[in-house]
Amino acid sequence: MRPLCVIGSLNMDMVISVPRFHAPGESIIGSHFAVFTGGKGGNQAVALGRLGVETIMAGMIGKDANGRAYQKALMAEKVDVSRLLQSDEATGVAFIEVNQKTGDNRIALAPGANMAFSPQAFLTIWESIRHCGFFLMQFEIPDETVLAAAERIHESGSILILDPAPARPFSDELLRLAHYLTPNETELNLLTGMPTVSEEEIMKAAQTLIGRGAHHIIVKLGARGAMLVTEDMSRYVPGFMVSAVDTTAAGDAFNAGLAFALAHGEELIQAVRYANAVGALTTTAMGAQAAMPTQAGVRALLQRQHA
Ligand code: RIB
Repeated sequence: MRPLCVIGSLNMDMVISVPRFHAPGESIIGSHFAVFTGGKGGNQAVALGRLGVETIMAGMIGKDANGRAYQKALMAEKVDVSRLLQSDEATGVAFIEVNQKTGDNRIALAPGANMAFSPQAFLTIWESIRHCGFFLMQFEIPDETVLAAAERIHESGSILILDPAPARPFSDELLRLAHYLTPNETELNLLTGMPTVSEEEIMKAAQTLIGRGAHHIIVKLGARGAMLVTEDMSRYVPGFMVSAVDTTAAGDAFNAGLAFALAHGEELIQAVRYANAVGALTTTAMGAQAAMPTQAGVRALLQRQHA
């Protein structure tokens, strides 16, 4: 099997557990502070590494202690870091509050070096990653880099799984270049301007993206699972029951699970089910990458909870 490549962001996550999300101007006392490696790109790479597949991480870190620590953490997960570039900007940092009761989070991000990952920088490594079979991207690096990379991936005939997160509008050109687009309900609402609360609304909104040239839309619905919409069908794929303590990076883990299953030749609905399981398991411990499951862990959950 050809390696998989993640092109995207790397952040150090500063995480505080809070009893509730506070109001503007209010200070509240939280508990547990911890620092974790995160960033949507790095999270997807670690999830793939933990599933046991050969993974290359392409992105930009700073020449600082956070960058060095991140590189070490990726190597410990057997992720290939030889396409990580270094910038004079600081390694990206995210401040994350996790609600102790629900496991939901709020994130504020200082992207730093991630935004220095320009199309020119990307092109310096492209020839060394073009052999990869699947590419995963997100929106925490510059828009122009995402587009330049998507064009190259398209020309090379490889598969692109694009996570439009954090949400922002983007061109129909990019929509057409992604084989799989994986918004959550909020991102789908932003991309379409349509309501995305009920299943029917989600389906209709996703169908408009198909009408604009998208190929496969997989809407991530958190604990509820996912909605798969293609030109020929719409199908709800239910999620898994787990005790969630921190939902950070569940969406990133979902995308890694999807890529892993598709790369192993799974049929699309089964691949979405697999992705649901990887996403669910990731919510069972604090931190973006701490609870990313192994293949055995995912298999066990799939067997315990038959669809
Ligand atoms: O998707 C979760 C990630 O979003 C966190 O790890 C944080 O770094 C932000 O990029």
